[in-house]
Amino acid sequence: MVTRMSPTLHDPSVSKMFCILLALPLGSVFTKDFKALCTTCRQITHNFDKGLEKTVKQNFGGGNTAWEERKLSKYESSEIRLVEILEGLCDSSSFECNHMVEEHEEHFETWWFKRKAKHPDLFKWFCIDSIKMCCPKGSFGPDCNTCIGGLERPCHGNGKCDGDGTRDGNGKCSCDKGYEGEFCLDCSDGFFSELRNDTFSLCKECHESCVGCFGGTRNDCKDCSKGWEKDQEGACIDINECLKDPLPCKDDQYCLNTDGSFSCKACNTKCSGCKGPGADSCLTCAVGYKDEGGTCTDVNECEQSEAVCIKEHQECFNTDGSFTCQCTTGFQEQDGVCVKLQEQAEENPDLPAINSEDSQTPDSPDKHEDL
Ligand SMILES: *[C@@H]1O[C@H](CO)[C@@H](O)[C@H](O)[C@H]1NC(C)=O
Repeated sequence: MVTRMSPTLHDPSVSKMFCILLALPLGSVFTKDFKALCTTCRQITHNFDKGLEKTVKQNFGGGNTAWEERKLSKYESSEIRLVEILEGLCDSSSFECNHMVEEHEEHFETWWFKRKAKHPDLFKWFCIDSIKMCCPKGSFGPDCNTCIGGLERPCHGNGKCDGDGTRDGNGKCSCDKGYEGEFCLDCSDGFFSELRNDTFSLCKECHESCVGCFGGTRNDCKDCSKGWEKDQEGACIDINECLKDPLPCKDDQYCLNTDGSFSCKACNTKCSGCKGPGADSCLTCAVGYKDEGGTCTDVNECEQSEAVCIKEHQECFNTDGSFTCQCTTGFQEQDGVCVKLQEQAEENPDLPAINSEDSQTPDSPDKHEDL
């Protein structure tokens, strides 16, 4: 029989933690948060199972001599192995875990030496039946009362039973989306009942066009949602807001009808008014663009018969939708006129060379093929 405590609890850092925690208002252990206690217990037994796995072949040298085999089978159910597993049950920082293991250590020994074979599920034996920190699935509260709907299908499979699986809670159902009522058998607003008897209920969502319904299609609506209206057959159909008078969007927008609604989208910048996206859906072209085969395209102002850059030494540069007038190479704008640069170009080699000679020199080192 093991009479001493798990070595973890002799760890000085744990003892220190213990003292600090005792000085503080204590959490779940003393206020009895039974949900948290069950979670802790579940974690402990989970770690026990992991410890079992980890120590399966711990003391096995890999040989197959009779001596090795004997040693292994002895280790399998040994106190040494149990202590090794107990050491790994808790993080040293978890007060609740260490406290629970310390308080119930003799249970692990009992199970290990006497109960393991008959009760292989440690969680059930330890957390539910022995220290009563948890309840079987589908039951709740101090006495593990059965949840509404029974152990197999708490809340009739349509919700969560308060305290399910713990010694906590009141067993009330919080229903999943689409279900309501004490038993989670009724359908919420916007849902209809597809199947129903005393113990089973299947609720499905109404069609998006409905406010309340008797079935799943647009033909089963009690009333139509906003943006939908009944047709002659009584089905809810989408209202096309884009056909309304006055039009619902601004002049530089087009209207996009959607199911139950609509949206206004900005026209292409090449358009002045439009009936869709893109430069080919313009009502008219914006200033600086002209209709070319149904698509609004940039006007090249620099190629118009009438020159647009008329000052001396000025050059025209076309831009998308417009143009600019700039002084030609060697000239610089000063007070609105282009004046000749004084030797500056030669003194400043960093100035970008825009003259046409560069790109046409046959032996230019920077040919374009590697670009
Ligand atoms: C209720 O309906 C479910 C699903 O159709 C079925 O499995 C169950 O046997 C029914 N129960 C009763 C009492 O009729």
